[in-house]
Amino acid sequence: MARSASKRPPRTRRTRSAARAWSGRFAEPVDALVKRFTASVPFDQRLADADIDASLAHARMLAARRILSRKDLAAIERGLARIRGEVAAGRFKWSIDAEDVHLNIERRLTALVGDAGKRLHTARSRNDQVATDLRLWLRGEIDVIQQRLASLASALIDQAERHAATLMPGFTHLQVAQPVTFGHHLLAYVEMLLRDRARLADCRRRLNRLPLGAAALAGTSFPIDRAGVARALGFDSICENSLDAVSDRDFAIEFCACASIAMMHLSRFAEELVLWTSPRFGFVRLPDRFCTGSSIMPQKKNPDVPELVRGKSGRVFGDLVALLTLMKSQPLAYNKDNQEDKEPVFDAVDTLRDALTVFAELVAGLEAVPEAMRAALREGYATATDLADYLVRKGVAFRDAHEAVAQAVRHAERRGCDLAELPLRELQRFARAIAPDVYRFLTPEGSAAARRHTGGTAPAQVRSAARRARRRLRARS
Ligand code: ARG
Repeated sequence: MARSASKRPPRTRRTRSAARAWSGRFAEPVDALVKRFTASVPFDQRLADADIDASLAHARMLAARRILSRKDLAAIERGLARIRGEVAAGRFKWSIDAEDVHLNIERRLTALVGDAGKRLHTARSRNDQVATDLRLWLRGEIDVIQQRLASLASALIDQAERHAATLMPGFTHLQVAQPVTFGHHLLAYVEMLLRDRARLADCRRRLNRLPLGAAALAGTSFPIDRAGVARALGFDSICENSLDAVSDRDFAIEFCACASIAMMHLSRFAEELVLWTSPRFGFVRLPDRFCTGSSIMPQKKNPDVPELVRGKSGRVFGDLVALLTLMKSQPLAYNKDNQEDKEPVFDAVDTLRDALTVFAELVAGLEAVPEAMRAALREGYATATDLADYLVRKGVAFRDAHEAVAQAVRHAERRGCDLAELPLRELQRFARAIAPDVYRFLTPEGSAAARRHTGGTAPAQVRSAARRARRRLRARS
Protein backbone atom coordinates (compact mmCIF):
# COMPACT_ATOMS: atom_id res chain seq x y z
CA MET A 1 0.00 0.00 0.00
CA ALA A 2 1.31 3.34 -1.00
CA ARG A 3 1.89 5.47 2.06
CA SER A 4 -0.35 8.44 1.94
CA ALA A 5 1.32 11.74 2.49
CA SER A 6 -1.21 12.57 5.17
CA LYS A 7 -0.08 9.59 7.33
CA ARG A 8 3.55 10.71 7.36
CA PRO A 9 4.52 13.12 10.10
CA PRO A 10 4.62 16.61 8.64
CA ARG A 11 8.23 17.24 7.51
CA THR A 12 8.27 20.86 8.40
CA ARG A 13 11.41 22.92 8.65
CA ARG A 14 10.97 22.92 12.38
CA THR A 15 11.11 19.16 12.96
CA ARG A 16 13.95 18.80 10.50
CA SER A 17 16.17 21.38 12.09
CA ALA A 18 15.38 20.05 15.53
CA ALA A 19 16.72 16.65 14.44
CA ARG A 20 20.05 17.87 13.05
CA ALA A 21 21.57 21.27 12.64
CA TRP A 22 21.95 20.98 8.89
CA SER A 23 19.33 18.46 7.81
CA GLY A 24 17.30 20.76 5.55
CA ARG A 25 19.66 19.93 2.71
CA PHE A 26 19.58 16.18 3.18
CA ALA A 27 17.19 13.70 1.58
CA GLU A 28 17.71 10.87 4.07
CA PRO A 29 18.78 10.58 7.68
CA VAL A 30 22.40 9.86 8.54
CA ASP A 31 23.29 6.20 8.70
CA ALA A 32 23.48 4.90 12.27
CA LEU A 33 27.07 3.80 11.90
CA VAL A 34 28.08 7.12 10.35
CA LYS A 35 26.39 8.90 13.21
CA ARG A 36 28.46 6.96 15.72
CA PHE A 37 31.57 7.30 13.60
CA THR A 38 31.34 11.06 13.26
CA ALA A 39 30.14 11.87 16.77
CA SER A 40 32.61 13.41 19.19
CA VAL A 41 30.31 13.98 22.12
CA PRO A 42 31.45 10.85 24.01
CA PHE A 43 34.76 12.62 24.56
CA ASP A 44 34.33 16.32 23.80
CA GLN A 45 31.70 16.76 26.51
CA ARG A 46 34.72 17.62 28.66
CA LEU A 47 34.65 20.98 26.91
CA ALA A 48 31.14 21.82 28.19
CA ASP A 49 32.20 24.47 30.69
CA ALA A 50 34.51 26.17 28.20
CA ASP A 51 31.76 25.98 25.57
CA ILE A 52 29.31 27.70 27.89
CA ASP A 53 31.83 30.39 28.86
CA ALA A 54 32.54 31.12 25.20
CA SER A 55 28.83 31.14 24.29
CA LEU A 56 28.07 33.61 27.08
CA ALA A 57 30.81 35.97 25.95
CA HIS A 58 29.64 35.64 22.34
CA ALA A 59 25.98 36.28 23.21
CA ARG A 60 26.84 39.30 25.37
CA MET A 61 28.87 40.77 22.54
CA LEU A 62 26.01 40.14 20.07
CA ALA A 63 23.63 41.96 22.42
CA ALA A 64 26.06 44.85 22.94
CA ARG A 65 26.29 45.19 19.17
CA ARG A 66 22.47 44.98 18.88
CA ILE A 67 22.69 41.82 16.80
CA LEU A 68 20.74 40.05 19.56
CA SER A 69 17.97 41.55 21.69
CA ARG A 70 18.40 42.07 25.45
CA LYS A 71 15.51 39.73 25.98
CA ASP A 72 17.12 36.95 23.96
CA LEU A 73 20.38 37.49 25.83
CA ALA A 74 18.61 37.14 29.16
CA ALA A 75 16.99 33.90 27.98
CA ILE A 76 20.33 32.55 26.74
CA GLU A 77 22.03 33.42 30.03
CA ARG A 78 19.29 31.75 31.99
CA GLY A 79 19.34 28.65 29.79
CA LEU A 80 23.12 28.27 29.82
CA ALA A 81 23.26 28.67 33.60
CA ARG A 82 20.76 25.87 33.91
CA ILE A 83 22.71 23.68 31.47
CA ARG A 84 25.92 24.30 33.39
CA GLY A 85 24.18 23.06 36.50
CA GLU A 86 22.86 19.99 34.72
CA VAL A 87 26.30 19.13 33.37
CA ALA A 88 27.96 19.63 36.76
CA ALA A 89 25.39 17.42 38.43
CA GLY A 90 25.79 14.73 35.77
CA ARG A 91 22.15 15.15 34.80
CA PHE A 92 22.70 16.47 31.29
CA LYS A 93 21.52 13.99 28.66
CA TRP A 94 24.30 13.76 26.09
CA SER A 95 23.19 12.29 22.81
CA ILE A 96 25.13 11.32 19.70
CA ASP A 97 22.11 12.46 17.73
CA ALA A 98 23.50 15.93 18.27
CA GLU A 99 27.05 14.86 17.33
CA ASP A 100 29.20 17.01 19.57
CA VAL A 101 29.29 19.08 22.73
CA HIS A 102 28.39 22.27 20.86
CA LEU A 103 25.24 20.95 19.22
CA ASN A 104 24.16 19.10 22.35
CA ILE A 105 24.27 22.28 24.37
CA GLU A 106 22.61 24.34 21.65
CA ARG A 107 19.82 21.81 21.30
CA ARG A 108 19.19 21.75 25.03
CA LEU A 109 19.28 25.54 25.14
CA THR A 110 16.64 25.76 22.43
CA ALA A 111 14.51 23.24 24.26
CA LEU A 112 14.82 25.35 27.41
CA VAL A 113 14.42 28.90 26.06
CA GLY A 114 13.00 28.53 22.55
CA ASP A 115 13.95 30.82 19.67
CA ALA A 116 16.60 32.73 21.61
CA GLY A 117 18.58 29.48 21.67
CA LYS A 118 18.44 29.29 17.90
CA ARG A 119 19.84 32.82 17.61
CA LEU A 120 22.97 32.09 19.64
CA HIS A 121 24.82 30.69 16.63
CA THR A 122 24.53 34.01 14.74
CA ALA A 123 27.96 35.21 13.56
CA ARG A 124 29.83 32.09 14.58
CA SER A 125 30.49 28.55 13.40
CA ARG A 126 31.42 25.41 15.22
CA ASN A 127 34.81 25.86 13.61
CA ASP A 128 35.73 28.98 15.56
CA GLN A 129 33.70 27.70 18.50
CA VAL A 130 35.65 24.47 18.94
CA ALA A 131 39.00 26.22 18.45
CA THR A 132 38.01 28.67 21.17
CA ASP A 133 36.72 26.01 23.55
CA LEU A 134 39.83 23.90 23.26
CA ARG A 135 42.10 26.86 23.93
CA LEU A 136 40.05 27.89 26.96
CA TRP A 137 39.99 24.37 28.32
CA LEU A 138 43.68 23.75 27.79
CA ARG A 139 44.59 27.09 29.34
CA GLY A 140 42.83 26.04 32.54
CA GLU A 141 44.57 22.67 32.54
CA ILE A 142 47.97 24.27 31.98
CA ASP A 143 47.39 26.34 35.10
CA VAL A 144 46.63 23.20 37.10
CA ILE A 145 49.69 21.42 35.69
CA GLN A 146 51.87 24.40 36.58
CA GLN A 147 50.78 24.02 40.18
CA ARG A 148 51.50 20.29 40.15
CA LEU A 149 54.95 20.90 38.69
CA ALA A 150 55.56 23.37 41.49
CA SER A 151 54.41 20.89 44.15
CA LEU A 152 56.70 18.18 42.85
CA ALA A 153 59.64 20.59 42.60
CA SER A 154 58.98 21.76 46.11
CA ALA A 155 58.89 18.17 47.45
CA LEU A 156 62.24 17.56 45.74
CA ILE A 157 63.71 20.73 47.25
CA ASP A 158 62.56 19.66 50.73
CA GLN A 159 64.33 16.31 50.31
CA ALA A 160 67.39 18.02 48.83
CA GLU A 161 67.70 20.21 51.91
CA ARG A 162 67.29 17.21 54.17
CA HIS A 163 70.02 15.38 52.26
CA ALA A 164 72.34 18.25 51.38
CA ALA A 165 75.22 16.31 52.96
CA THR A 166 74.13 12.71 52.34
CA LEU A 167 76.81 11.18 50.16
CA MET A 168 76.09 8.85 47.30
CA PRO A 169 77.95 7.83 44.18
CA GLY A 170 77.36 9.96 41.12
CA PHE A 171 77.33 7.82 38.00
CA THR A 172 78.47 8.05 34.42
CA HIS A 173 77.73 5.09 32.16
CA LEU A 174 75.89 3.76 35.21
CA GLN A 175 79.29 3.15 36.82
CA VAL A 176 80.38 4.80 40.03
CA ALA A 177 82.11 8.04 39.00
CA GLN A 178 82.50 10.60 41.78
CA PRO A 179 80.83 11.30 45.10
CA VAL A 180 77.86 13.62 44.98
CA THR A 181 75.26 14.39 47.57
CA PHE A 182 71.77 12.98 47.31
CA GLY A 183 70.46 16.52 47.60
CA HIS A 184 72.54 17.61 44.64
CA HIS A 185 71.22 14.72 42.59
CA LEU A 186 67.61 15.60 43.41
CA LEU A 187 68.17 19.26 42.56
CA ALA A 188 69.10 18.21 39.02
CA TYR A 189 65.46 17.18 38.59
CA VAL A 190 64.32 20.50 40.02
CA GLU A 191 66.21 22.22 37.19
CA MET A 192 64.34 20.07 34.67
CA LEU A 193 60.99 20.88 36.26
CA LEU A 194 61.77 24.61 36.29
CA ARG A 195 62.46 24.41 32.56
CA ASP A 196 59.20 22.50 32.10
CA ARG A 197 57.39 25.34 33.84
CA ALA A 198 59.03 27.97 31.69
CA ARG A 199 58.18 26.01 28.53
CA LEU A 200 54.53 25.66 29.56
CA ALA A 201 54.27 29.35 30.42
CA ASP A 202 55.58 30.16 26.97
CA CYS A 203 53.10 27.74 25.36
CA ARG A 204 50.28 29.36 27.33
CA ARG A 205 51.27 32.81 26.12
CA ARG A 206 51.01 31.77 22.47
CA LEU A 207 47.81 29.82 23.09
CA ASN A 208 46.04 32.71 24.75
CA ARG A 209 44.45 34.27 21.64
CA LEU A 210 40.84 34.26 20.59
CA PRO A 211 39.72 32.42 17.40
CA LEU A 212 36.01 33.44 17.71
CA GLY A 213 34.91 35.79 14.98
CA ALA A 214 36.59 33.72 12.28
CA ALA A 215 33.25 31.89 11.95
CA ALA A 216 33.50 29.04 9.43
CA LEU A 217 36.70 30.36 7.87
CA ALA A 218 36.24 33.78 6.28
CA GLY A 219 34.87 35.84 9.13
CA THR A 220 31.31 37.09 9.42
CA SER A 221 29.17 39.80 7.84
CA PHE A 222 27.97 40.97 11.28
CA PRO A 223 29.59 43.95 13.06
CA ILE A 224 31.18 41.85 15.83
CA ASP A 225 33.59 43.00 18.54
CA ARG A 226 36.37 40.43 18.66
CA ALA A 227 38.60 42.40 21.01
CA GLY A 228 35.73 42.69 23.48
CA VAL A 229 35.10 38.93 23.45
CA ALA A 230 38.84 38.32 23.87
CA ARG A 231 38.88 40.54 26.94
CA ALA A 232 35.78 38.92 28.40
CA LEU A 233 37.37 35.48 28.09
CA GLY A 234 40.76 36.51 29.43
CA PHE A 235 42.59 36.16 26.10
CA ASP A 236 45.54 38.50 25.56
CA SER A 237 44.56 39.20 21.96
CA ILE A 238 42.75 37.77 18.95
CA CYS A 239 43.94 35.37 16.23
CA GLU A 240 44.68 37.75 13.39
CA ASN A 241 43.76 35.67 10.36
CA SER A 242 40.38 33.94 10.16
CA LEU A 243 41.68 30.97 8.14
CA ASP A 244 44.49 30.42 10.60
CA ALA A 245 42.17 30.96 13.56
CA VAL A 246 39.94 27.98 12.72
CA SER A 247 42.65 25.64 11.47
CA ASP A 248 45.60 26.27 13.77
CA ARG A 249 46.34 23.55 16.30
CA ASP A 250 49.92 24.58 17.06
CA PHE A 251 48.91 25.27 20.64
CA ALA A 252 47.83 21.65 21.08
CA ILE A 253 51.02 20.36 19.50
CA GLU A 254 53.14 22.68 21.61
CA PHE A 255 51.36 21.55 24.72
CA CYS A 256 51.99 17.90 23.87
CA ALA A 257 55.63 18.73 23.17
CA CYS A 258 55.94 20.40 26.58
CA ALA A 259 54.11 17.47 28.17
CA SER A 260 56.37 14.98 26.39
CA ILE A 261 59.51 16.66 27.66
CA ALA A 262 58.10 16.80 31.19
CA MET A 263 57.12 13.12 31.00
CA MET A 264 60.60 12.28 29.70
CA HIS A 265 62.02 13.95 32.82
CA LEU A 266 59.65 12.04 35.07
CA SER A 267 60.53 8.85 33.24
CA ARG A 268 64.25 9.36 33.84
CA PHE A 269 63.56 9.90 37.51
CA ALA A 270 61.28 6.86 37.49
CA GLU A 271 64.09 4.78 36.02
CA GLU A 272 66.42 5.89 38.81
CA LEU A 273 63.82 5.07 41.43
CA VAL A 274 63.43 1.58 39.98
CA LEU A 275 67.20 1.10 40.12
CA TRP A 276 67.62 2.67 43.54
CA THR A 277 64.84 0.60 45.12
CA SER A 278 66.18 -2.66 43.73
CA PRO A 279 68.05 -4.67 46.36
CA ARG A 280 71.26 -4.39 44.25
CA PHE A 281 71.31 -0.66 44.99
CA GLY A 282 69.00 -0.24 47.96
CA PHE A 283 69.63 3.54 47.98
CA VAL A 284 66.03 4.49 48.75
CA ARG A 285 62.87 3.03 50.15
CA LEU A 286 59.44 3.91 48.79
CA PRO A 287 56.56 4.25 51.22
CA ASP A 288 54.62 0.96 51.31
CA ARG A 289 51.48 2.70 50.08
CA PHE A 290 53.28 3.33 46.79
CA CYS A 291 54.33 -0.27 46.25
CA THR A 292 52.48 -3.34 45.15
CA GLY A 293 53.09 -6.99 45.81
CA SER A 294 53.29 -9.98 43.54
CA SER A 295 50.40 -12.42 43.22
CA ILE A 296 52.85 -15.34 43.32
CA MET A 297 56.06 -14.20 45.03
CA PRO A 298 55.25 -13.29 48.62
CA GLN A 299 58.58 -11.56 49.21
CA LYS A 300 58.13 -8.93 46.46
CA LYS A 301 57.58 -5.22 46.89
CA ASN A 302 57.47 -3.75 43.42
CA PRO A 303 57.99 -0.13 42.37
CA ASP A 304 54.88 -0.16 40.17
CA VAL A 305 54.28 3.58 40.39
CA PRO A 306 57.65 4.62 38.92
CA GLU A 307 57.41 1.83 36.36
CA LEU A 308 54.01 3.08 35.24
CA VAL A 309 55.22 6.66 35.01
CA ARG A 310 58.10 5.42 32.86
CA GLY A 311 55.63 3.45 30.74
CA LYS A 312 53.09 6.24 30.44
CA SER A 313 55.68 8.63 29.03
CA GLY A 314 55.28 6.61 25.82
CA ARG A 315 51.59 7.48 25.61
CA VAL A 316 52.31 11.18 25.79
CA PHE A 317 55.03 10.98 23.12
CA GLY A 318 52.40 9.12 21.07
CA ASP A 319 49.92 11.95 21.61
CA LEU A 320 52.47 14.42 20.25
CA VAL A 321 53.17 12.31 17.17
CA ALA A 322 49.43 11.76 16.62
CA LEU A 323 48.83 15.51 16.52
CA LEU A 324 51.77 16.25 14.24
CA THR A 325 50.57 13.55 11.88
CA LEU A 326 47.00 14.80 12.11
CA MET A 327 48.01 18.27 10.97
CA LYS A 328 50.71 17.61 8.43
CA SER A 329 48.55 17.19 5.33
CA GLN A 330 45.54 19.32 6.09
CA PRO A 331 44.75 21.99 3.55
CA LEU A 332 43.36 25.26 4.89
CA ALA A 333 41.04 25.80 6.59
CA TYR A 334 38.96 23.56 8.89
CA ASN A 335 38.69 19.85 8.13
CA LYS A 336 36.87 17.24 10.13
CA ASP A 337 40.27 15.65 10.81
CA ASN A 338 40.57 18.29 13.50
CA GLN A 339 38.00 16.53 15.62
CA GLU A 340 40.77 13.97 16.23
CA ASP A 341 42.82 16.60 18.08
CA LYS A 342 40.92 16.27 21.33
CA GLU A 343 41.65 12.80 22.61
CA PRO A 344 45.45 13.13 22.36
CA VAL A 345 45.32 16.49 24.16
CA PHE A 346 43.00 15.12 26.87
CA ASP A 347 45.21 12.07 27.28
CA ALA A 348 48.41 14.11 27.54
CA VAL A 349 46.80 16.42 30.12
CA ASP A 350 45.46 13.56 32.23
CA THR A 351 48.62 11.50 32.07
CA LEU A 352 51.00 14.33 32.92
CA ARG A 353 48.79 15.74 35.68
CA ASP A 354 48.36 12.36 37.36
CA ALA A 355 52.03 11.45 37.03
CA LEU A 356 53.04 14.76 38.63
CA THR A 357 50.54 14.36 41.42
CA VAL A 358 51.55 10.83 42.32
CA PHE A 359 55.26 11.66 42.14
CA ALA A 360 54.91 14.68 44.41
CA GLU A 361 53.52 12.43 47.13
CA LEU A 362 55.97 9.67 46.46
CA VAL A 363 58.94 12.04 46.72
CA ALA A 364 57.63 13.48 49.96
CA GLY A 365 57.56 9.96 51.40
CA LEU A 366 60.87 8.82 49.93
CA GLU A 367 63.35 7.49 52.48
CA ALA A 368 67.06 7.58 51.70
CA VAL A 369 69.37 4.78 52.91
CA PRO A 370 72.71 6.59 53.40
CA GLU A 371 74.55 3.40 54.48
CA ALA A 372 73.80 1.70 51.16
CA MET A 373 74.89 4.78 49.25
CA ARG A 374 78.15 4.90 51.18
CA ALA A 375 78.81 1.20 50.66
CA ALA A 376 78.44 1.70 46.90
CA LEU A 377 80.86 4.62 47.04
CA ARG A 378 83.53 2.46 48.64
CA GLU A 379 83.36 0.00 45.79
CA GLY A 380 83.94 2.39 42.93
CA TYR A 381 87.22 4.30 43.62
CA ALA A 382 85.04 7.39 43.46
CA THR A 383 87.81 9.67 44.74
CA ALA A 384 90.36 8.74 42.08
CA THR A 385 89.86 12.10 40.35
CA ASP A 386 90.47 13.83 43.68
CA LEU A 387 93.83 12.08 43.97
CA ALA A 388 94.73 13.23 40.46
CA ASP A 389 93.64 16.80 41.27
CA TYR A 390 95.77 16.61 44.44
CA LEU A 391 98.82 15.68 42.38
CA VAL A 392 98.16 18.53 39.95
CA ARG A 393 98.11 20.96 42.87
CA LYS A 394 101.52 19.52 43.86
CA GLY A 395 102.87 20.36 40.42
CA VAL A 396 102.31 17.13 38.47
CA ALA A 397 100.88 17.54 34.93
CA PHE A 398 97.27 16.32 34.79
CA ARG A 399 97.94 13.56 32.23
CA ASP A 400 100.82 12.19 34.34
CA ALA A 401 98.68 12.43 37.45
CA HIS A 402 95.91 10.55 35.63
CA GLU A 403 98.28 7.72 34.75
CA ALA A 404 99.77 7.52 38.26
CA VAL A 405 96.32 7.29 39.84
CA ALA A 406 95.23 4.65 37.30
CA GLN A 407 98.18 2.52 38.49
CA ALA A 408 97.27 3.16 42.11
CA VAL A 409 93.68 2.06 41.47
CA ARG A 410 94.90 -1.13 39.83
CA HIS A 411 97.06 -1.81 42.85
CA ALA A 412 94.19 -1.14 45.27
CA GLU A 413 91.97 -3.41 43.21
CA ARG A 414 94.51 -6.21 43.53
CA ARG A 415 94.68 -5.64 47.28
CA GLY A 416 90.89 -5.51 47.47
CA CYS A 417 90.76 -2.15 49.23
CA ASP A 418 89.87 1.49 48.59
CA LEU A 419 92.46 4.15 47.74
CA ALA A 420 91.99 5.71 51.16
CA GLU A 421 92.93 2.36 52.75
CA LEU A 422 96.35 2.15 51.06
CA PRO A 423 99.22 3.03 53.43
CA LEU A 424 101.10 6.22 52.57
CA ARG A 425 104.21 4.35 51.52
CA GLU A 426 102.30 2.30 49.00
CA LEU A 427 100.59 5.38 47.58
CA GLN A 428 103.95 7.13 47.25
CA ARG A 429 105.15 4.35 44.96
CA PHE A 430 102.88 5.81 42.27
CA ALA A 431 103.74 9.47 42.84
CA ARG A 432 106.48 10.89 45.00
CA ALA A 433 104.51 14.10 45.55
CA ILE A 434 101.99 12.31 47.76
CA ALA A 435 102.17 13.49 51.40
CA PRO A 436 100.23 12.58 54.56
CA ASP A 437 97.67 15.32 53.88
CA VAL A 438 96.39 13.24 50.91
CA TYR A 439 93.89 11.31 53.02
CA ARG A 440 91.74 14.40 53.52
CA PHE A 441 91.03 14.36 49.82
CA LEU A 442 90.42 10.65 49.50
CA THR A 443 87.28 10.56 51.62
CA PRO A 444 83.90 11.08 49.94
CA GLU A 445 83.27 14.00 52.33
CA GLY A 446 86.52 15.69 51.29
CA SER A 447 85.79 15.10 47.65
CA ALA A 448 82.30 16.61 47.81
CA ALA A 449 83.32 19.50 50.05
CA ALA A 450 86.04 20.47 47.57
CA ARG A 451 83.44 21.12 44.83
CA ARG A 452 82.26 24.30 46.41
CA HIS A 453 81.61 26.52 43.39
CA THR A 454 78.12 27.46 42.24
CA GLY A 455 76.47 24.40 40.77
CA GLY A 456 78.86 22.06 42.61
CA THR A 457 77.99 19.27 45.02
CA ALA A 458 79.50 20.65 48.25
CA PRO A 459 76.80 20.50 50.97
CA ALA A 460 76.94 24.28 51.53
CA GLN A 461 76.40 24.81 47.81
CA VAL A 462 73.53 22.34 47.74
CA ARG A 463 71.86 24.22 50.58
CA SER A 464 72.13 27.56 48.84
CA ALA A 465 71.07 26.05 45.50
CA ALA A 466 67.96 24.70 47.25
CA ARG A 467 67.21 28.16 48.64
CA ARG A 468 67.62 29.71 45.20
CA ALA A 469 65.44 27.04 43.59
CA ARG A 470 62.67 27.82 46.06
CA ARG A 471 62.87 31.49 45.15
CA ARG A 472 62.85 30.71 41.41
CA LEU A 473 59.81 28.53 41.90
CA ARG A 474 57.95 31.31 43.68
CA ALA A 475 58.99 33.92 41.13
CA ARG A 476 57.14 32.09 38.38
CA SER A 477 53.95 31.20 40.20
N1 ARG B 1 33.11 18.42 16.65
C1 ARG B 1 33.83 19.24 15.73
C2 ARG B 1 35.33 19.22 16.08
O1 ARG B 1 35.66 18.74 17.09
C3 ARG B 1 33.34 20.63 15.79
C4 ARG B 1 33.54 21.42 14.55
C5 ARG B 1 32.72 20.86 13.48
N2 ARG B 1 32.77 21.64 12.32
C6 ARG B 1 32.43 21.17 11.11
N3 ARG B 1 32.51 21.97 10.11
N4 ARG B 1 32.02 19.94 10.96
O2 ARG B 1 36.19 19.65 15.34
